[in-house]
Amino acid sequence: MAFTTFVVFFINFALSFTSSLATARDKDPSWHRYVRSPVSKIVKPTGIVPDSIVGNVSNPTGLIHSLGATVLSRSNEGDLLPTIVVDFGQNVVGILRLEFGGSQNTSTGLPGLRLAFSETLEYLSDRSDFTRSDNANGDEKLTNGTDQVAVKNINYTWTDFHGCEEDTKVCSDGLHGFRYVKIWLEALPSDAPLTSSLGSVSISGMSLEWSAYLGIPHTFTGWFECSDQNLTQWWYDGVYTVDMGTDTFFANETEPRGASSPILEGKQVLFDGAKRDRDPYVGDLAVASLTSYMSHDFAEATRNVLEDLALHQRDDGWIPPASINNYTLPLFDYPLWWVVCSVDLVMYTGNTSYADTYWNTLVKVLDGYYPSNTNSTTGLLDKTADMGYGDYAFLPRSGPVTYYNALYVHALSYASRLANSLGRGDDAARWSSRAGAIGDALLSHNLDQSVGAFYDGGPCSGGAAGTICDVHAQDGNAIAILAGVTDEKKSAGILDYWQNATSQVYGNAFYDSSVLSPGDHFDQRVYAFISYFEIAARFTTPGKASSAFDEIRRLYGWMSAHDPGITMWEGIGPNGTAYEGAFTSMAHGWSTGIVPLLTGYVLGVQPESPGFKMWKLCPVVEGGGLTWARGEVPTPQGKIAVSWEMGDAESGPTLVLELETPEGSSGTVCVPTLGIESPKITLDGSPIQALPGQTLITVNVSGGKHVFAIES
Ligand SMILES: *[C@@H]1O[C@H](CO)[C@@H](O)[C@H](O)[C@H]1NC(C)=O
Ligand SMILES: *[C@@H]1O[C@H](CO)[C@@H](O)[C@H](O)[C@H]1NC(C)=O
Ligand SMILES: *[C@@H]1O[C@H](CO)[C@@H](O)[C@H](O)[C@H]1NC(C)=O
Ligand SMILES: *[C@@H]1O[C@H](CO)[C@@H](O)[C@H](O)[C@H]1NC(C)=O
Ligand SMILES: *[C@@H]1O[C@H](CO)[C@@H](O)[C@H](O)[C@H]1NC(C)=O
Ligand SMILES: *[C@@H]1O[C@H](CO)[C@@H](O)[C@H](O)[C@H]1NC(C)=O
Ligand SMILES: *[C@@H]1O[C@H](CO)[C@@H](O)[C@H](O)[C@H]1NC(C)=O
Ligand SMILES: *[C@@H]1O[C@H](CO)[C@@H](O)[C@H](O)[C@H]1NC(C)=O
Ligand SMILES: *[C@@H]1O[C@H](CO)[C@@H](O)[C@H](O)[C@H]1NC(C)=O
Ligand SMILES: *[C@@H]1O[C@H](CO)[C@@H](O)[C@H](O)[C@H]1NC(C)=O
Ligand SMILES: *[C@@H]1O[C@H](CO)[C@@H](O)[C@H](O)[C@H]1NC(C)=O
Ligand SMILES: *[C@@H]1O[C@H](CO)[C@@H](O)[C@H](O)[C@H]1NC(C)=O
Repeated sequence: MAFTTFVVFFINFALSFTSSLATARDKDPSWHRYVRSPVSKIVKPTGIVPDSIVGNVSNPTGLIHSLGATVLSRSNEGDLLPTIVVDFGQNVVGILRLEFGGSQNTSTGLPGLRLAFSETLEYLSDRSDFTRSDNANGDEKLTNGTDQVAVKNINYTWTDFHGCEEDTKVCSDGLHGFRYVKIWLEALPSDAPLTSSLGSVSISGMSLEWSAYLGIPHTFTGWFECSDQNLTQWWYDGVYTVDMGTDTFFANETEPRGASSPILEGKQVLFDGAKRDRDPYVGDLAVASLTSYMSHDFAEATRNVLEDLALHQRDDGWIPPASINNYTLPLFDYPLWWVVCSVDLVMYTGNTSYADTYWNTLVKVLDGYYPSNTNSTTGLLDKTADMGYGDYAFLPRSGPVTYYNALYVHALSYASRLANSLGRGDDAARWSSRAGAIGDALLSHNLDQSVGAFYDGGPCSGGAAGTICDVHAQDGNAIAILAGVTDEKKSAGILDYWQNATSQVYGNAFYDSSVLSPGDHFDQRVYAFISYFEIAARFTTPGKASSAFDEIRRLYGWMSAHDPGITMWEGIGPNGTAYEGAFTSMAHGWSTGIVPLLTGYVLGVQPESPGFKMWKLCPVVEGGGLTWARGEVPTPQGKIAVSWEMGDAESGPTLVLELETPEGSSGTVCVPTLGIESPKITLDGSPIQALPGQTLITVNVSGGKHVFAIES
């Protein structure tokens, strides 16, 4: 990928931006070093976990460095089971291969190996932290926590395919998402007489056949870099997390609970998680797909999922969340996420023929399913307790819940914007007026004046319908702000309350009390997924940017500093733990909001019409202690490149903002005035006027290269 240089205008005050741009112009741009993917689809382990060796193991690092074989031997029943733990250095996903340099057996059978996989050392044990069989039933249940091998006497490569060596004996689950694998010489009693816990095995090499998207530098069509290396690194960590879940849908590798789908078989999809939750759920795409568009612009995986779910729309307009349970898992919020994700697809990739093909599907969700669940007295969506519907976190809540309604407002407004750009004015008008009405109903019905934030909205669990529980949730409050339900003052009040009530060292909790599910510590549970919307609300609410950066640093700093490192977790529980123990997916694309947050707010690039034909460029330059940021966003007509750099002149702060957008596109730039009383602002060298006291001036420009400069 060629980096096109910006035209650097002469600017008559001292700035260091030329040096940072020069770095980016180098043959190997400086951001390349942050990329996390393995260099090829054959991934080698990085080491043996210290102190993991048990029993008679000779040359333990042999299999790592291909310097002679590692030999596991056991000659007597009384001997310890020879064991090693291999570390791949970071979370990986795919099919393991072992190169054997032969084995020696006793008369009791070939020596058996057992393999237990784990994403973390904490949950590494004699059974995998999770295997496909753990979620399977009947014939689909092949193993009980370990994969088995019967090691032959010959030199050969064993590949961890899904299946059994003979009938139901010596079985393997196949694909795994993991960082560590524990290998030991032992046979399951049920595998006798094929394998034995005696003998000796030579392992001369080991590798992983990477199954997912390989995000190496030249696959990046978008990138990000800023003066804080942690933030920069987390952007690439987020991309890697989504890469791990971007994979081919195969019945033998996905979620087994009725999720296999002939339509999806063999296609690229975006799974929720790499280890577990290997089914594409549409709510997760609300974040994961944005990461995908902004990094590799690989829209095919998202489109395959959205189209498949559209084809399974129910007659009443409801759309299933995923293929699981043969497309019947009842979630109440996910049809709205299908709408949001469909609009995202068109906005980010410009595929208006997708919009045309599925317009009727979208209309049926917004004008069929949700109106049929609207309470005519309150004007709000009601999820009645006996519907049995859940949501992204299977929360025990019903009634006029703020989250469902705020998300409905968001979906209506966003779809209305798309309808407008596609010349579907009637739909646009109907949806935006309904969005306004529901927003007003939320304000009059669900706002808790005593704390200045929305109630969760329904009764306490077990409470009577029509009552309201004294509890508040992150989801509804954050999305209400983003959907424009609240004015700036109310938004700021909500965000202040939320920060104060729920802040943890590992992020902000998703509830301010655990009353809905006592014992589950909701007030100490953090979802990076829903936190994305809260942090975005902080970036869009004046005066709240520094709290956005603070929350990012707590949340992503925590995950990056804890095992397995790099990848982003499904959920965080009390004391910063994996919220569902070993079962927790530690590589979950929905937690990668850091990518759209940095690209969409710190660079400030947002689409305003399909394919960024019109865009908005509103970088947040203050509040995070950053001195510069730069990057690119792919669009169908070419890239949008943004670079900004703050300076410190004698007369006060300075800012240079450079942009390059495709010819034929146009948009609005927000130029911050940095609190300067009467700033001198130039656009391409010509002065432009700011009114005194303005914190931001907006300027419309057409495509091409432009430079804004601000000084005292
Ligand atoms: C350990 O295994 C090796 C073969 O790899 C064997 O030569 C040696 O005798 C074994 N040691 C013990 C104490 O069993
Ligand atoms: C193990 O080795 C013996 C020779 O010691 C051989 O006769 C026998 O067939 C082998 N058993 C298996 C199960 O491979
Ligand atoms: C699975 O293994 C565990 C020990 O790890 C054991 O307690 C349990 O009985 C096993 N279940 C089956 C079905 O074999
Ligand atoms: C396996 O290969 C090794 C060298 O890589 C060799 O020393 C050994 O004899 C071979 N064993 C068999 C059974 O072919
Ligand atoms: C699953 O099936 C596909 C297609 O048949 C095959 O390519 C793949 O290797 C299988 N995966 C495993 C883990 O066996
Ligand atoms: C899934 O549902 C469809 C439509 O309801 C039905 O035709 C099909 O047989 C079901 N498949 C399975 C495996 O139950
Ligand atoms: C756009 O979407 C349509 C309908 O879903 C699909 O057939 C087409 O391949 C997509 N085009 C691109 C360039 O992805
Ligand atoms: C509609 O909301 C009103 C006011 O909260 C409530 O009394 C009524 O039971 C709701 N209707 C239904 C059908 O849930
Ligand atoms: C923050 O929380 C404390 C204790 O819960 C409370 O006393 C204080 O008034 C709160 N401040 C704000 C700004 O909400
Ligand atoms: C970067 O993050 C690490 C831990 O994740 C932390 O120790 C370090 O202080 C951070 N650096 C900066 C500049 O914030
Ligand atoms: C969090 O850690 C503290 C200190 O170890 C412990 O007392 C507390 O029980 C933990 N909280 C939960 C919910 O596990
Ligand atoms: C800038 O563009 C926006 C979006 O097209 C438009 O609403 C606004 O009126 C324009 N402002 C000026 C000053 O032209």
